[in-house]
Amino acid sequence: MKIYKNIYEWQNTRRTIPNDKKLGVVPTMGALHEGHLSLIKQSKAENDFTLVTIFLNPTQFNNKEDLVNYPATWNVDVKLLKNLKTDYLLAPDFKQIYPDNYNFTIKENKLSKILCGSARPGHFDGVLTVVMKLLMLADADRAYFGEKDFQQLLLVKKMAEAFFVKTEIVPCPTIREKDGLALSSRNRRLSSEGRKKASEYARIIKQKKNRSEIREELEMNNIKVDYLEEFFGRRFAAVFIDNIRLIDNFKL
Ligand code: PAF
Repeated sequence: MKIYKNIYEWQNTRRTIPNDKKLGVVPTMGALHEGHLSLIKQSKAENDFTLVTIFLNPTQFNNKEDLVNYPATWNVDVKLLKNLKTDYLLAPDFKQIYPDNYNFTIKENKLSKILCGSARPGHFDGVLTVVMKLLMLADADRAYFGEKDFQQLLLVKKMAEAFFVKTEIVPCPTIREKDGLALSSRNRRLSSEGRKKASEYARIIKQKKNRSEIREELEMNNIKVDYLEEFFGRRFAAVFIDNIRLIDNFKL
């Protein structure tokens, strides 16, 4: 696996990939888990080459504490990527991604304002801006995003359409633990008590009950609800466990 910390070096390599070969990109913030690995496997199956990006994007964290506590697991991540025979890893620093110090931004005015957007002001501006930059840098044929962040996936898809981005945005199914908990880099910060609650969370929201019954049951289990909404034929939930925000969604 070739590792690039410099975006210009990566761009030089990108130019050497022949036009008839397909490139897939998997953007990540590191702290890789089986969910990320499934995106990489799908990209490898569908393309000739796969680029993974690792960039812990500060502009999408409205809560600084959340950013500071985000697990940094560079050595383990590199090992996992090598094991999967990933072709390229791009891991630029803040200055390279934001030479303008986050002066130019991408804003969306509807979908980004609900669900995670209303709970985390500015979050999707940061996500969309960095994803656009990564898509431009990768210049890939396909980009892979997990359905676990369904709102992010929809916004990225719509942004790509709005700006005539040639990269196809490919949705990938959520990967879950045996007890149904959606994989997330945040899960590893849960205490053992918190992990048990997270299991209850995953179970409760799946039930064929109405939203107020589900909210009540979550609260009875001392799980603080951030939102519980239904849109696009899906149920979306965000809760706080051990002060850690966990999100999930599924088709009704
Ligand atoms: O889903 C994520 O990990 C991030 O939001 C992304 C898409 C890599 C942008 O920083």
